[in-house]
Amino acid sequence: MVSPRVYEAMRQPIVGHLDPFFFEVVEDVRKLLAYTFSTSNEFNIAISGTGTSGMETAVANFAEPGARFAVLANGYFCDRLADVARRHGSEVVRLEKPWGEVFDDQQAREFILREKPRTVAYVQAETSAGVYQPGNAICEAAHEVDALVIADCVTSLGGMPVMVDETGIDIAYSCTQKGLGCPPGLAPLTVSPRAWERLRARTRPVDSFYMDLRLLDSYYRDHKYHHTASATMFYALREALAIVREEGIENRWQRHRRNHAAFVAGIEALGMRMHVAEGHRLWTLNTPRVPDGVDDVKVRQRLLAEHGIEIAGGLGSLAGKVFRIGLMGYSSTEENVARILDALQRSMK
Ligand SMILES: Cc1ncc(COP(=O)(O)O)c(C=O)c1O
Repeated sequence: MVSPRVYEAMRQPIVGHLDPFFFEVVEDVRKLLAYTFSTSNEFNIAISGTGTSGMETAVANFAEPGARFAVLANGYFCDRLADVARRHGSEVVRLEKPWGEVFDDQQAREFILREKPRTVAYVQAETSAGVYQPGNAICEAAHEVDALVIADCVTSLGGMPVMVDETGIDIAYSCTQKGLGCPPGLAPLTVSPRAWERLRARTRPVDSFYMDLRLLDSYYRDHKYHHTASATMFYALREALAIVREEGIENRWQRHRRNHAAFVAGIEALGMRMHVAEGHRLWTLNTPRVPDGVDDVKVRQRLLAEHGIEIAGGLGSLAGKVFRIGLMGYSSTEENVARILDALQRSMK
């Protein structure tokens, strides 16, 4: 759900994409993103587009054609990352895990030291499975072989610790419509000084004009026209990030953790099981397993028709096996936990 304050912010008059007021908003977003990503990086921007545009920007700028690109693959969005990298001409190498499991430090390390890639990518919060992948060992090994690390934080930013600097992530991207409680439309992205150096040293032009970070930097920092960014979406993002700041990022994580824990307790009380082992679950996106004999499509249709609640089904190998229930951003409330548990129970009956 979108926060009412964000809706209100979007009613402000729309200024031009080169208006001094627009660039004031951009500067606020830059600073507030540093706080929300837990980073001292100066390069924090919002790409015009949804989460996938953040993914494509990260790949286009930091994976050179022909160079090795390593993906730790344990879900649907890891496969998308590999697909995007292949389309940009990378030589993709993958380490596989069943959806819902995490890579342990040793496995990740051995893979990266063996493959010696130029870029490593992983999904911190895999929405298809509901699993959180820690990144410290991945980043440490990657830096040992002089690789950059891209982390997909689409379903963690604003709801779970992203910790860009502490983890050692070089490029992190996210979306606006999940933990931040905005409409979809922008992809927050942060780049470390180390990654920026790599970009400056790049001899081949980035194979996307729209997503070329050096061109975007000259737009947002030097105010040179590149494309017509949406002032309305920047108002929305600034307001959403201001709310994060007011709540306090740690308090926000704790709110998500508490509501997730209450949800899990309720699910177990209904006799259901979570797909992901305790300690590895997302607090933003819950994946209870569909009980035997229950048709997940019918349950979801009934939830929407009779209770006005939309949840998602499993993707790929988890289709029909899990429900995917988002309790994130503005929607992560005790009241919503109680509502979904009650409605789920009724719909399954
Ligand atoms: C982990 C992850 N990465 C990338 C995306 C793509 O984001 P979008 O659908 O906003 O383009 C999603 C969308 O749900 C996601 O969950």
